[in-house]
Amino acid sequence: MAHSDQHAFIGYRVRRDIFTSKGTLLLPSGTVLKAKHADLLRANGITLGTDDVTDLKLADETQILEAVMEIKEIFGKVQAEGSLPIDWVKDRVLPKVMDLTSRHANLLDMLRFLHDKDEYTYRHTFAVGVIASMIGRWLGIRGQELIRLSMSASVHDIGKSLVASEILLKPGRLTAEEFDAMKEHAKIGYRLLKDEAVDEVIALVALQHHEREDGTGYPDGVRAEQIHLFSKIVAVADVFHAMTSNRVYKAALPYYEVMTLMWEGKLGSFQRNILNLFIKHIMELHIGKSVVLNDGSPGKIVYVSSSAPLQPLVSRYGVLIDLRLEQELNIREMV
Ligand SMILES: [Fe+2]
Repeated sequence: MAHSDQHAFIGYRVRRDIFTSKGTLLLPSGTVLKAKHADLLRANGITLGTDDVTDLKLADETQILEAVMEIKEIFGKVQAEGSLPIDWVKDRVLPKVMDLTSRHANLLDMLRFLHDKDEYTYRHTFAVGVIASMIGRWLGIRGQELIRLSMSASVHDIGKSLVASEILLKPGRLTAEEFDAMKEHAKIGYRLLKDEAVDEVIALVALQHHEREDGTGYPDGVRAEQIHLFSKIVAVADVFHAMTSNRVYKAALPYYEVMTLMWEGKLGSFQRNILNLFIKHIMELHIGKSVVLNDGSPGKIVYVSSSAPLQPLVSRYGVLIDLRLEQELNIREMV
C-alpha cells in the first residue's frame, strides 16, 4: 500500500466504522481523517477505498452549507424588509461560489450534495451560482466578467423571496393563477436588484432567466438576440439543476435523462453552443465512470465528442464501442 494513497483522503470523512483485524474500533464513522489517522491506518495495515469516505472534503461541505444558510438569511431579510441586502450577497455568498468553482472542486460531488429537497430554493440558488460560473469558465469568461456572471447567477431567483410560500412549496401542480404568481418572481427580482442600483446585467438576468431562444419563455417572450448571454447561461444551469433535484412536487430525474431531454429541446429552447458545451463537460466529468447500456450490459465512458456528447465512446468487456455508430445501443444510466 502506498503511503500517499491514504493521505489522499485527509480532510474527508469516513462513512463507516473502521476496525482493526482484531475487531477493535479504530475510527468511528464520521471521523474527519487527519494525518495521524492515515498513519494509524497504515500501522494497522488498513487501506481505505474511495467508497469508505465521503465525496466532498468536510471543508467544502461546510462552505456549501454556510452559503446555503446565508442565502436563506438573505431571502428572510427581503421578506422582512422588502429590500435586498446586496452586500450580504457580495461578501458572504459570492466568495464561496467563486472559491468552489476556481478550485474546480468536483462539480458532480458538489451537486450530489445539493440535491436534497430540504431548503430547495436556497440550495438551488447556490447550485445555479456554481454551475453557471463553471459554464462561464468553460466558455472562456474570466476576471471581472466572471464575477458579474457569478453574481447574477447567485441572485437570479431572489424574486422568489416575495412569492407566497404556499405556492413555492406546494406539493402538487400549480393552478394557472398560482403559476402566474410564480412567474412574477422574475419581475420582482429585477425590481429588487434595480432598487439596489446594481450593475444592470445582474438585474437583467433575474428578469430574463426564464426567457427562451424561440420566444416561448417569460415574462416578456423575448427572443434569442434580445436575451443577454448571462441569462442564457443561467437558464441552462437553472433547468439542469431543477430537473435533477428532488423538489416538493417532483422527484429528481437522472443526469443522462435530463441532458437528453435538453439536447432534444424537450425542456425548452436554449442557446445551442452553451447547451452543447455544458453537456459535453458534464459527460466528460463521467469519463472513467460506469454506465449501464440499454441492453443491461455495463460499460465505462472513455471519450466524449463535441458533436455527439451523449453518444460517447464506451468500453464494454474490454471492447471499445462508439455509440454514435450503434443505432440500437445507447446509455440507460450513468452510475
Ligand atoms: Fe427562476
